[in-house]
Parts: sequence; structure tokens; C-alpha cells
Amino acid sequence: MEKSSKVESRLVSDEERESLEKLLSELHIEDKNSPDAPIKPLRSISFSGRIRIAALFEDDHEKWIDKTITLGGWAKSIRTGGNKEFCFIDLNDGSSVRNFQAIIMKEVSNFEEVCKEGIGSSFLIRGKIVKSPGGKQSIELRVDNTPGLYCKILGSCKLGEYPLMTGKEAKKMKLETLRDICHLRPRTNIISCVTRIRNNLAYATHIYFQNRGFQYIHTPLITSSDCEGAGSMFQVTTLFPSPNEKVSLKTTPEGLVDYKDDFFSKPTYLTVSGQLAVENYACALSDVYTFGPTFRAEVSHTSRHLAEFWMIEPEMCFADIYDDMECGENYLKFCLKYVLENNKADLEFLEKQVEKGLIQRLKTVIDNDFKRLSYTEAIDILKEAVSKNKKLFIEDSKESSQELRNIYWGMDMASPHERYLTETVFKKPVIVYNYPKEIKSFYMKLNSDGKTVAAMDILVPKIGEIIGGSQREENYELLSKRIDELKMDIKGYWWYLDLRKFGTVPHSGFGLGFERLVMMATGIENIRDVIPYPRYPGHADF
Ligand code: 4AD
Ligand code: MG
Repeated sequence: MEKSSKVESRLVSDEERESLEKLLSELHIEDKNSPDAPIKPLRSISFSGRIRIAALFEDDHEKWIDKTITLGGWAKSIRTGGNKEFCFIDLNDGSSVRNFQAIIMKEVSNFEEVCKEGIGSSFLIRGKIVKSPGGKQSIELRVDNTPGLYCKILGSCKLGEYPLMTGKEAKKMKLETLRDICHLRPRTNIISCVTRIRNNLAYATHIYFQNRGFQYIHTPLITSSDCEGAGSMFQVTTLFPSPNEKVSLKTTPEGLVDYKDDFFSKPTYLTVSGQLAVENYACALSDVYTFGPTFRAEVSHTSRHLAEFWMIEPEMCFADIYDDMECGENYLKFCLKYVLENNKADLEFLEKQVEKGLIQRLKTVIDNDFKRLSYTEAIDILKEAVSKNKKLFIEDSKESSQELRNIYWGMDMASPHERYLTETVFKKPVIVYNYPKEIKSFYMKLNSDGKTVAAMDILVPKIGEIIGGSQREENYELLSKRIDELKMDIKGYWWYLDLRKFGTVPHSGFGLGFERLVMMATGIENIRDVIPYPRYPGHADF
């Protein structure tokens, strides 16, 4: 960890921290903040008594030989062999990216019907596990006319209408095309891999914070305060008539919308962040986190923005900005380690289909300290880079490339700047801290220079900003002054200011954009492909 000599002031001194390390070793207490990543146990049997296909691929799979079991799933391919003596079904139940091969013998009563089925049909198959003579797999499920064995066709798939393809054809299907069939795309290998990784990242998040003494707080989605002060919020109202009724809105004498009759009797919105609400709980329970959906009505068509996304927001009392950085770096590494250990097959598939070098990229993130530098240092690096390289940032976005080359202290870094720092200069995740107060939110702690706030952003290769956080302003006067300066409606923040009146404490937290974490872990380049039903301008189907 970076020593405090370079930083403003630490809440708990380095000496105290060192003495803690000694104490822990004396008491034989492990450092619980290190990124251990447990293996998730798999229940091989479902509630309905079928065996999950993933269980058949576990290390000692030969133990299944001669056992009679039931599998359920969808066919990835069906083909006959041995002069129509038998038929192979490649079955997938979504528990693994790998398909399990069933072999149906000619004597099975519905053999002819089974042969007519194809990709997408659903089956329940009871058979015996046998050693497979084929080279592709070591065991397979064999169904013959032994009493009790069967190959039930649960649902045929209307071939010709089914939009998904198989084999080489499937590889040609663009992720963009799959967005039009969000209801069927989880049946593709790529989306099912992403889904299993997304699931494990959510699970890892809870393990991480729960193991470290954080309480999970459910913060509201409907709110009357704007956390980020950016004004890009979706309004929640019952004042509007239904689509086929004529508009009739009551107005005040000044001609403004009269909210008296609205559901909450005032304007309300979908939250952009659970932070303000979670801070109240942090200032009572010390370490807390919220993990829920957040909404932003900014019209951005980038590959990293959604109108509805999930955010993890831890909040720690008695913690400064440097503790915040430590937590962010540690948590990110824990999640990636968890996926490396629990999603091996998925990552191997994505490595082949999506990003060469994916697994190594993740390992490099885990094994190296993130680079920490101040905003001022970051600007200096960018200034020098632009002066040395006449072409830098030119290609990134044609219309605004001159603007991108205009580097000055006080500017809000754009994504190409952030990516340049993390991808080109440092080639690893970067934590930028102490930003000019003008470009950051009202609640961030003012540093002693009066110009910067104790904010920190974590930037990662391929994505740019993945975490945004800060130490919070715990001083009542300074915070109310800032709310005034920004001409925000101070009345709405009375409860937030109360925290600073009644036993205020230094506290810090951050928000991690969950979909950006899924992008980082999978190599998928568009955020619309890592959430089941993406919401973005003009798109709210399914
Ligand atoms: O930097 P942001 O705006 O920070 C906050 O909302 C703070 N209240 C968090 C806190 O301190 N508790 O957003 C946090 C993260 C970003 O770093 C980014 O990863 C993600 O949320 N994010 C988005 N992800 C997808 N689509 C969008 N439109 C996003 N906007 C932010
Ligand atoms: Mg941010």
C-alpha cells in the first residue's frame, strides 16, 4: 500500500496500522481483507431430480459410469449415425457451456420422431452413463429399450422459424442481431457464459462484503433527491393519463405542474444512486453496502452507458479516501479471482470467441498493484503526451478530436483520456484521486487546498471508469455552503445535513458499475450484451 507521506492526512496513522498487523499475527487472526476466493459448491441434482450437466463434467466424472440418471435440456444438434442405427443429441441445460452427448438407440420406441427433431427442441432423457467410444467426450448418456429408460420430446422447435443457428453459422451471428431476440439469446453459448459470469460476480460481491462485516442495505428506487446533481433523472408520476386518454394536467397559478394530486404530492424520480440513503445507515452500522438498479436518463449511445444499470455502493465510516481506494482495488480483484476459479469453462469459451488473452488479462489485474496518481499528475501526463504526439486522440472521435487534444487543469477527462492512461501509459488499472471540485459532486470532501476534493476514480483497460467514489464532506458548514453554491434546493437535503449535525464522522464510499465489471470479466465490448434486457434510448422491449 502507498505510504501516507504522499497524501494529505490519514485518519489512522501508518504507525497504528503497522501495530495492528503485529497484533493480528500475535492473535493468529488472518487479514480478512486479502482477496481469498472460495470455490462455489455445485448441487448436482435439481429439485425435479435431474442431474445438472455441469456436474457430469466435474473432475471425477468417471464415477457416473453405469449409473442411470435423468437429464433435461435443449438440443444444440441432433444427427443420426451408424447407418441410422442410433442418433446423437448434444444437450445443453445452461448449467455449463459444454453440451452433454446422449445416444439414442434405434430400438427406442420413438426413435423416428427423435431423429426428426433438431436444434432448439427440448428433451427429458433417462439413460445409462457409459464410456464414450468417440474422442470428443469420455462419457455419454445411452438410451436403449431397457424398461424405465426414455427420450421424451418435451417441445419441438419450429425449424425454419427458429432464429438461432448452430455450429459455424452460430459464430457468424452478431451480438447486435441477438439484441433483437433478447428472449432467446440466453440459449446461445456466448450469452449463457456471460450470464453465468454475471451471476457469480453478484454472488462474489455478497461474499466479499459479508465476509468483511458489511451489512446489506436496501435503498429506495423512488426518490425526491438527486444524488449526483446531474439532473438526468426519470420522473415517477401518476399524473399522466393512460395512453388513450386526453391530456389534462392541473397547473399552479404560475403555470407550473401542480403536484398536489400526484402520488407522492411532489416530484419524484428513479434514483441515480443509493449513496445518500446508504450513508445514513453507514453512520450507524459503520460498514454497509447497497447493490441495486439505478437509472439515468442521459441520452448517451456509447458502448458503456445504459439507462438502467446495477450499482454496488459500499460506504465505510471512520475511513478516508485511501481506505476507499484500498477497498475498491481489493473488491475488484476478489471478484475477478472468484470468476477465474469458478467459471473456468466459460472463460475458456470467451477466450476463444471474444477476446484472445482474456484469462491472462484478468490474472495480470489480480497480480499487480493498481497505479495511483493525482488528477494533477494525470493532467500533466496527458499534456505532455499531446504535445509529443500530434495524432493522439485524433482518431478516437472525429468531430470532437480537437477538443480532446485541449488538455488543461480543471477539465473533465473524457473516456479516451482515461483509457490512454490505463491502457497505454500504465497498462494496468489506475486510481486517479483529488479532482477539481468543479467537476465532481456536491458531497465530496473539500481538500485543504480549497480547490480539489477527495474523489477517486478507478480506470481499467478496455472500459475506462469502472468505479467512482470519494470521502464525503462531514463538515456541516462546508457541505451546506457547497449546496448553496451549486444552487441546489437545500430543503430537500435536510436529513442528509442532519448526519453532519448529530455525531458526524469521516466516511467514504464508492459506486461500481456492475455491468462494467461484467464487461471487464468477459471481454464483451458493448454494455448492452452483458445485462439480460438492456435499456437505452429508444429501447425498452422485453
Ligand atoms: O461515478 P458515479 O456517477 O458515482 C456515483 O453514482 C456515486 N454516488 C457512487 C458512490 O460514491 N456511492 O457512478 C458510479 C459508477 C461509474 O464508475 C460507472 O462504473 C457506473 O457507475 N455508471 C454507469 N454504468 C452504466 N451506465 C451508466 N449510464 C453509468 N453511469 C455510471
Ligand atoms: Mg463517475
